[in-house]
Amino acid sequence: MSMRHFIDITDLSVEEVNQTIALADAIIAQPDQYRIRMVGKKLATLFFEPSTRTRLSFEAAMMELGGNVLGFSSSDSSSAAKGESVRDTIRTVSCYADIAAIRHPKEGAPLAAAEVSDIPVVNAGDGGHNHPTQTLTDLLTIHREKGRLQDMVIGVCGDLKFGRTVHSLLTAMSRYAGNSIIMISPLELSVPSYIKEELKKNGISFKEVTDLDEVISKLDMLYMTRVQRERFFNEADYLRLKDSCILNMDKLARSKKDLIIMHPLPRVNEIARQVDDDPRACYFKQVRYGKFIRMALIIKLLEGF
Ligand code: NCD
Repeated sequence: MSMRHFIDITDLSVEEVNQTIALADAIIAQPDQYRIRMVGKKLATLFFEPSTRTRLSFEAAMMELGGNVLGFSSSDSSSAAKGESVRDTIRTVSCYADIAAIRHPKEGAPLAAAEVSDIPVVNAGDGGHNHPTQTLTDLLTIHREKGRLQDMVIGVCGDLKFGRTVHSLLTAMSRYAGNSIIMISPLELSVPSYIKEELKKNGISFKEVTDLDEVISKLDMLYMTRVQRERFFNEADYLRLKDSCILNMDKLARSKKDLIIMHPLPRVNEIARQVDDDPRACYFKQVRYGKFIRMALIIKLLEGF
């Protein structure tokens, strides 16, 4: 079996993504069957940037498979603080672990690590670029809640420029037939052109608007995101743009009854708390699914597709 990394969502074919989702469904149905699958194996979580869900769900996933975890949760507590490169770090970690999940503020850092790694490397978020395991979580959520990944009108709203989860999700959804995309953001936070090029290449229709009210009634899925304060060049711009898209009950009143509302979390204030109790809110279910899809991904990367 040749070693596989997971740096970009397109590192998996559509068929492999579907197989990973199917395995996550099987794990959810019968978790006991997987309790000893990874006994003796170790996952390293190398997090050079803050995280709650991604790191803890990776670690919980490996533990539920009977494996062990090691790692660090900030660059301050690793030799990065002494100036070590991510390539040297992964060379070291390759001696101690069987698979590694890396989150890094620099775009491309997990790819650079993968190039010299002896163990599978998973991109757990690289700067404002990509976040492919969040996308697997999102696809599992959509599939379980809507029963399909195609023929959907998908709204993505918020910081579409720096929001890495959106970039990977749009690429992923553009590989399924019949989807169309509505991008909702202030002009300054619109989707980067390289993602739009990819959507065009995949023949997916999309449009860009600035007002959620105008389009909410058309959507089957609405993906909200926070404005990514840490990626702004200056605080004044952040303060000006931070409240540009807020979902509240008034706006939701115009949406379809079977809309699903998603958010990778953390939420700041872009979804009003009252929305949490609405049956259309799926973002806490998404958190739960994140552990199961990572269990499936660990099995696939270590045992083969
Ligand atoms: C996201 C991330 O880190 O990109 N969170 C996550 O992994 N679920 C979203 C964000 O930070 O806004």
